[in-house]
Amino acid sequence: MKRFSQLEKDYVNQVIDYEFNTSKNSIFGNKLEAAFSKVIGMEYSIAHVNGTATMHTALAALGVKKGDEVIVPPLTMSSTALAVLQNGSIPVFADVDEKTFNISAKSIENCITSKTKAIITVALYGLSPDYDSIKEVCKKNNLYLIEDNAECFLSYYKGKVVGSFGDFSSFSFQASKHLTCGEGGMLCTNNEDFANQGRRFSSLGYAGVSAKQGKITRNDIQDPNYSRHVSLGFNYRLSEGNAAIVLGQLERAAELVEIRIAVARIFDEVIQNQTLLVKQHIPSDCINSYWCYSFYLNTDNPEVDWYKFRDLFQKNGGDGYYAAWKLSYFEPLFLNEIQNLEGVWQKYSHGLCPVSEFLQPRMIQLKTNYWDLDEAKQQAEILSKTINEYNSIL
Ligand SMILES: Cc1ncc(COP(=O)(O)O)c(C=O)c1O
Repeated sequence: MKRFSQLEKDYVNQVIDYEFNTSKNSIFGNKLEAAFSKVIGMEYSIAHVNGTATMHTALAALGVKKGDEVIVPPLTMSSTALAVLQNGSIPVFADVDEKTFNISAKSIENCITSKTKAIITVALYGLSPDYDSIKEVCKKNNLYLIEDNAECFLSYYKGKVVGSFGDFSSFSFQASKHLTCGEGGMLCTNNEDFANQGRRFSSLGYAGVSAKQGKITRNDIQDPNYSRHVSLGFNYRLSEGNAAIVLGQLERAAELVEIRIAVARIFDEVIQNQTLLVKQHIPSDCINSYWCYSFYLNTDNPEVDWYKFRDLFQKNGGDGYYAAWKLSYFEPLFLNEIQNLEGVWQKYSHGLCPVSEFLQPRMIQLKTNYWDLDEAKQQAEILSKTINEYNSIL
């Protein structure tokens, strides 16, 4: 199987053939948004330049303001917290569940103050958070919910597709993601008012755009009395060429997701019946789309053992793998600057989120984007050999 097919190439050729002619310029953008809405089961989809801008738009569209607090997990790629900062708001870090590695409802509850306006959940590595308990917390405390699904596509929670639970749900089309055009994103909602606000915010505050209509007409902009900008917005629109590629990918989504799940099944066979590596737990009512395959090294000395295991794996022919990102609040930006901002009440020191702090230094993320299953099988054999060798030198 190939990651890109003739379909994506044909769509891109069509964009080039009409020379990015602006009067026709949302053919693929519109088609992509309509098709995405159908797949995710949300009424409105707004294509974006990336899956960080989407969350900035979501916060702005919900009316989350400067100084308001937004609860996020620290164990994730830091765009989740960065989007909160880009909105002028304050990220507050809630801990994750030790089995699923996803933000926990109990920890969220402990972080709520009178300034809390929203929660951004992350479907880490493609696994859904526990939306029943998180939505209950939102309801009880009158908080908005934004889903960060950058790593998650066609995952399910209790039979419902992930991306359909929040006031907004956000997706990324960055190069490593299930669907890609290099850089891109999508923001979905069922609320027309939020969608209107979101479209306008992501389109330079243009007066003429709305929930389903991303483009202003030539008639409008040729009028000397046309007032374009009614509010402050950013230019976060996805280009037509990129929309064409993602539309092709979306039409092939089932096979693109299935192959990652098939790769995960291959790694599963190695992971079961051993205790050195502890896998992200997938609850029986969830289907994970496996953006990557994650586990942690069961050791008391991760500072040494993480590197030991990695070096052995690579010596055996294993692909380079990733650690989990440094926790957001331990990044220099947060330690040196954000911690000192007015209104930031959390101390970014050890013990803030103990479960995340236990997991992060031990974690290993194996890639699942093998388009040839034989390559994945080879990596699984190397992983198995590495576990045996590692155990024998302990
Ligand atoms: C959980 C998470 N959120 C947000 C992002 C940001 O997406 P983008 O790179 O499209 O801005 C990423 C990764 O790229 C991610 O993994």
